[in-house]
Amino acid sequence: MSQKRILLIAPTGQVGWELLRCAQPLGTVIPVSRVTNAYGHVDLSNADSVRRIIQQIKPDIILNAAAYTAVDKAEEETELAFQVNGTAPAIMAEEAKKLNALLVHYSTDYVFDGESASPYTEEDKVNPMGAYGKTKLAGEEGIEAIGGEYLILRTAWVYGIRGKNFLLTMQRLANERDELRIVSDQIGAPTWSYMISQATVQVLSQLYSPQMSKDRAQYSGIYHLTSGGQTSWYEFAKAIIAREEKQPNVIPIPTAEYPTPAKRPAYSVLSNQKLQQTFGITVPEWDKTLELCLDAQQER
Ligand SMILES: NC(=O)c1ccc[n+]([C@@H]2O[C@H](COP(=O)([O-])OP(=O)(O)OC[C@H]3O[C@@H](n4cnc5c(N)ncnc54)[C@H](OP(=O)(O)O)[C@@H]3O)[C@@H](O)[C@H]2O)c1
Repeated sequence: MSQKRILLIAPTGQVGWELLRCAQPLGTVIPVSRVTNAYGHVDLSNADSVRRIIQQIKPDIILNAAAYTAVDKAEEETELAFQVNGTAPAIMAEEAKKLNALLVHYSTDYVFDGESASPYTEEDKVNPMGAYGKTKLAGEEGIEAIGGEYLILRTAWVYGIRGKNFLLTMQRLANERDELRIVSDQIGAPTWSYMISQATVQVLSQLYSPQMSKDRAQYSGIYHLTSGGQTSWYEFAKAIIAREEKQPNVIPIPTAEYPTPAKRPAYSVLSNQKLQQTFGITVPEWDKTLELCLDAQQER
């Protein structure tokens, strides 16, 4: 693979931070965030800003790790969430197409309504329940409508050793409280940001390999990329707490006892079969990757 120019949008987020490290072997990684650095800055709520940075950097690959991810706040700040999650990705796709660049974009399990009883495939009907899911779906549809080269990687329940996530919240609460009441009737697959980033880089190194690069466009599409297996927030919390020194009582509660402004899907397990069959990539089961993440955190 020749030296590529890779524009990484949002190197400060959970996935972006890992991508900044993992993507280095792919080429020259140019990180750009809302804060100005040597390359400039980008604000996804401003269409001109998005166009300008892409036209200026002229990347071969755009990694868009930015998103408005405050699921509950999106119910109120819907317009802002729409600009960041819905409008900006389509502008990236337009600019990428002009440059013959590949756009890698992340989406979410929240595009589904959670009514399924088996893992969602990429072909399953979408029906987001809240504003966040609707804005993310608009982003997917905007990219698809442009029709350039793109990968939309839908992931779920993202956590890691930095940023704002369930793992770090549970670890903090374990120290502060003697009892934790955690929702047990929402089922999903907790996915470590490092695994998302590693899998992304592996997909890219295949797409730019001599075997795949001339037919690269045919691989454009949506792929599900989550840990294997499934669990509830309650079981996830218990697995996190089990590694803590102070272990509060973890009590399962129904969603009805923990009302939130945004409705969440009750079941949002994604099938990773397409990713596996196309690229031979499998992210291990959620509990195995959680252990690896906690080991990495301990080492630090
Ligand atoms: N978190 C999850 O549980 C989850 C689940 C499913 C899918 N996903 C998807 O996975 C992807 C990565 O999520 P994540 O968890 O890594 O997100 P995250 O940790 O919340 O990070 C979001 C990033 O987006 C940037 N950002 C937000 N608004 C921006 C704007 N207007 N202009 C420029 N940058 C902006 C933030 O920059 P600042 O540092 O400046 O705020 C931050 O770097 C997203 O597409 C998300 O929708 C996440």
